[in-house]
Amino acid sequence: MKDQLLQKIKDRKAVVGIVGLGYVGLPLAMEFAKSGFKVIGYDVSKRTVDRLMKGDSHIQDVSSADVREQVTAGRFVATTDESQLAKCDTVSIAVPTPLSKTRDPDMSYVQAATDAIARQAHSGLLVVLESTTYPGTTREVLQPRLEERGLTVGKDVFLAFSPERVDPGNPKWHTKNTPKVVGGVTPACTEVATALYSACIDTVVPVESTESAELVKLLENTFRAVNIAMVNEMAIICEKLGVNVWEVIDAAATKPFGYMKFTPGPGIGGHCIPLDPHYLAWKMRTLNYKTRFIDLASEINADMPEYVVRKIARVLNEHRKSVNGSRILVLGVAYKKDIDDMRESPALDVIRLLEDRGAEVEYHDPYVPSFTENGHAFEGVDLTHERLAAADAVVIVTDHSTVNYQDVVDHAEIVIDTRNATRGLKPSKARLVALASA
Ligand SMILES: NC(=O)c1ccc[n+]([C@@H]2O[C@H](COP(=O)([O-])OP(=O)(O)OC[C@H]3O[C@@H](n4cnc5c(N)ncnc54)[C@H](O)[C@@H]3O)[C@@H](O)[C@H]2O)c1
Repeated sequence: MKDQLLQKIKDRKAVVGIVGLGYVGLPLAMEFAKSGFKVIGYDVSKRTVDRLMKGDSHIQDVSSADVREQVTAGRFVATTDESQLAKCDTVSIAVPTPLSKTRDPDMSYVQAATDAIARQAHSGLLVVLESTTYPGTTREVLQPRLEERGLTVGKDVFLAFSPERVDPGNPKWHTKNTPKVVGGVTPACTEVATALYSACIDTVVPVESTESAELVKLLENTFRAVNIAMVNEMAIICEKLGVNVWEVIDAAATKPFGYMKFTPGPGIGGHCIPLDPHYLAWKMRTLNYKTRFIDLASEINADMPEYVVRKIARVLNEHRKSVNGSRILVLGVAYKKDIDDMRESPALDVIRLLEDRGAEVEYHDPYVPSFTENGHAFEGVDLTHERLAAADAVVIVTDHSTVNYQDVVDHAEIVIDTRNATRGLKPSKARLVALASA
């Protein structure tokens, strides 16, 4: 079985399945198609599938031209028809892994995807989970579902975990040139999964087990969450000491070894950093271990929107104004610069907290024309001189590169800059307040 599958992969005769065609799945599907594989993308969203089959990409990092080219060449097909999975020799799963309201893992998407694959499974199939999850998921959730079909993992079918490291909007690192970690349930599983990804990704890093591979992802993102929290606390420390945190960070970053630069901000967002560490914290709670770093980092990061709003209130107060009744213009609502993803964006918390205190909030984001949060529909506004001048305060929450910040500081009355986007600018009018300034 193994040798047959390895040969099919080598000859590009293997049909590659991707389950979940989102931020992770679609770029991966494109890489396999560009490497000469026939790719079947299965997604439960008919809207997504219809768009893709028209050659229209819904993911910023994948061009519509690329999708069109692969669809036209017959190398990529998107479908909502589960039975198409029966044609696949390999299936990579990239479905969401959110948290429940109580911050426990919500495995329902992974379970549903695995059940669909298991219903169509045949011997000689490789299944790889890419969704971020707690250590043990591949062996505890996927393996039994496949084996219920009478297929033994490591013999009839192969099963591995390979974490996705996509960084949306990153111009340098993308799916193909970012090293990919792979860990199988058995050595044969690791071997087949390594062969598959090596066919389209420059560097593949095999590890001993699925648990190792699952934990690699959680280590990477916990590392980021903890360091962001540390530097966010450093911003608060600098405010109390009357020291410019940005200068301290930039100077520290001149150290050529033993230091890695992180920057403070209004909080953390996206599908990864705010969520992934909780997968590990949850798993460790089941083993009676409290993950103190994760808990503290989460507490500090989660408090940052509140910290920003307290700062806005203080600055307005200095101008004899209250948040209640003030007109506040939020610049940038995506969770980070130059992307259109709003998932878990701290801007959502900042806007909610301001509205709770009676502010009239409007927003401008060149990447997000509108959004809906808790049933409330928000429409973005144009960034005009009049609008800047009319706002009681302008709050830079996301520092998109295309915004003219000189214009902002020239026309607004008060600018609260949580990202250092106005670094080096000389405001002709605005009172400029940085995240960590007193
Ligand atoms: N977005 C990132 O930057 C990123 C980076 C690394 C890892 N991840 C991880 O990758 C996983 C996927 O994230 P994403 O950002 O691509 O999510 P996404 O929401 O962009 O895409 C998920 C897709 O899966 C589809 N889907 C849901 N249930 C399905 C099912 N049962 N069968 C088939 N399709 C189904 C959805 O319709 C959607 O199109 C998550 O575990 C996430 O943590 C995301």
